[in-house]
Amino acid sequence: MQPGNKRRVYISEVVARDGFQIEPNFIPTEAKVKLINLLSRTGLAKIEVTSFTSPKAIPNLRDAEEVFKRVERVRGVIYSALVPDVKGCERAIGCAVDEINMVMSASESHGRANLRKSPEDSLAQFAEIVKMPKDTHIAFNASISTAFGCPFEGIIPAERIVNIIERCADMGVNGITLCDTTGIADPAQVFELCSEVRALFPRVNFTVHFHNTRGMGLANLLAALEAGIERFDASLGGLGGCPFAPGSSGNICTEDTVHMLDRMGYETGVDLDRLLEIARALPVIVGHEVPGQVMRAGKADRRYPRPE
Ligand code: COA
Ligand code: ZN
Repeated sequence: MQPGNKRRVYISEVVARDGFQIEPNFIPTEAKVKLINLLSRTGLAKIEVTSFTSPKAIPNLRDAEEVFKRVERVRGVIYSALVPDVKGCERAIGCAVDEINMVMSASESHGRANLRKSPEDSLAQFAEIVKMPKDTHIAFNASISTAFGCPFEGIIPAERIVNIIERCADMGVNGITLCDTTGIADPAQVFELCSEVRALFPRVNFTVHFHNTRGMGLANLLAALEAGIERFDASLGGLGGCPFAPGSSGNICTEDTVHMLDRMGYETGVDLDRLLEIARALPVIVGHEVPGQVMRAGKADRRYPRPE
């Protein structure tokens, strides 16, 4: 790849939402705000700050309003929040979010387990939500869980995903995130689905959201890149998981992702050294080891003293 001719990719950090929603112990509000403030200064394109969900469903994010309001916003960073319903949208508008990330499941059974909603119920909520903000600066993204397969139902036909995207686009949704909620996508499947939806919806901004549950996360990211996708969700330290999807585990790790993309000559805009420093403090915040690998191994250009 020629210098000065790097392909730009955009990283969205989801640790404060996907990462913290599944943690067994409450992460203090202060620690969340401090972490997000540090992440804001690394060059990440977007930060998913929290979710406006039921505190009974997701107790660890019960401080969503306080976190959102206390974060110091850095110009150029998009501050997003996950929203499952009209009530969540009202809360998000109250915090002046930059982006409302509406969530639904492509599968009936995961939708019911996670959100108590069928895909149709969720789409009906979306149609109401997109009409709510008076502030036209708020962008809408729709995240489609289990887009690459469901832990209860298995494969989800591509036509179903295409139909959901079409209906979201008709509502005026600006972005779609295809989520592999339990890490069952493989690179061939990712390439196929991403190529298909990009060709069908050239005006939609697509993001992919991979969990590394079966070690296929970064391979899936490369397959999505190959299919022309430029936006990627990732979670610091590789934390993450949906509490209502059995067998779920961490997202692809942000610093490992940035490290790989840097090595390959992509322009992420992210200061990797700064990100690694923040990642190395994460085990103290959550009280356990995290899956990230580069934070332990060091970057690939790390050199050891030659043996005597
Ligand atoms: N924020 C806070 N509270 C909410 C809410 C929201 N967005 N939506 C509903 N509630 C409250 C209602 O006020 C009601 O409270 P009450 O029992 O004190 O009266 C209660 O939740 C039930 O309301 P209802 O509309 O019947 O919701 P539900 O029980 O069908 O639950 C969700 C729907 C979406 C709120 C809930 O399933 C949820 O929050 N899921 C989140 C799952 C998630 O985030 N998963 C991980 C991300 S993929
Ligand atoms: Zn996820």
